[in-house]
Amino acid sequence: MQRIIRPIATSIALVSLSAGAFAADEEKAADAKVNEKCPITGKAVLPDCTLKYEDNTYAFCSVDCCKQFNKERKSSLYHKIGGKVAINATVDAFYKKVLADDRVNHFFEDVNMRRQHNKQKAFISAALGSPVPWTGKDMRKAHANLELTETDFGVIAGHLQKTLEELEVDEKLIKEVMTVVGSTKDAVLNRPKKSA
Ligand code: HEM
Repeated sequence: MQRIIRPIATSIALVSLSAGAFAADEEKAADAKVNEKCPITGKAVLPDCTLKYEDNTYAFCSVDCCKQFNKERKSSLYHKIGGKVAINATVDAFYKKVLADDRVNHFFEDVNMRRQHNKQKAFISAALGSPVPWTGKDMRKAHANLELTETDFGVIAGHLQKTLEELEVDEKLIKEVMTVVGSTKDAVLNRPKKSA
């Protein structure tokens, strides 16, 4: 299969790193709908200290925070496997496999799959280090009524792994992704929480 997942090293654009650089640019200022609190410190942002990553522009309270955010993005698993384009391709191909598999497709009979694709994309992206946080249900609540077994989990995880392999994602990255997915198992299977 053609390799459709590519690194996205060029997609982080530093819009402005120097305070004041955009201060006179009213058009840009009116345009920009950015966060009011710095994602690193939670302090109020400087509106002209911003960085664009994929679809969003993020504002920071200092140049150092902007740099830190940039560093975190570049080192995230999400970024390394190819960001939004890669996740979209993976989840779309993954659910084709899931729905073609009689061992698990009955779980999705009454599920709005368009919505499910979007939710899974958002969840996996956040879990792998996208800067957009997951705002849906926690995994325990989302699967609480499904009475899933270890085997069900293995089948679903297996389809995800196979999809990543077919998309020729680097073997080491696949391992890392599957570790993150594996970390949801207790919640998805509604097992008692481990005490600290
Ligand atoms: C492998 C790890 C899994 C992850 C990361 C995962 C992730 C998700 C997410 C993000 C949602 C949407 C939650 C929301 O509505 O906010 C969801 C819902 C759902 N998941 Fe999973 N899931 C996993 C395993 C499974 C398994 C093993 C099954 C069944 C074999 C399954 C079946 C479903 C179904 C049927 C829904 C829809 C529930 C509803 O809308 O009522 N999931 N899952």
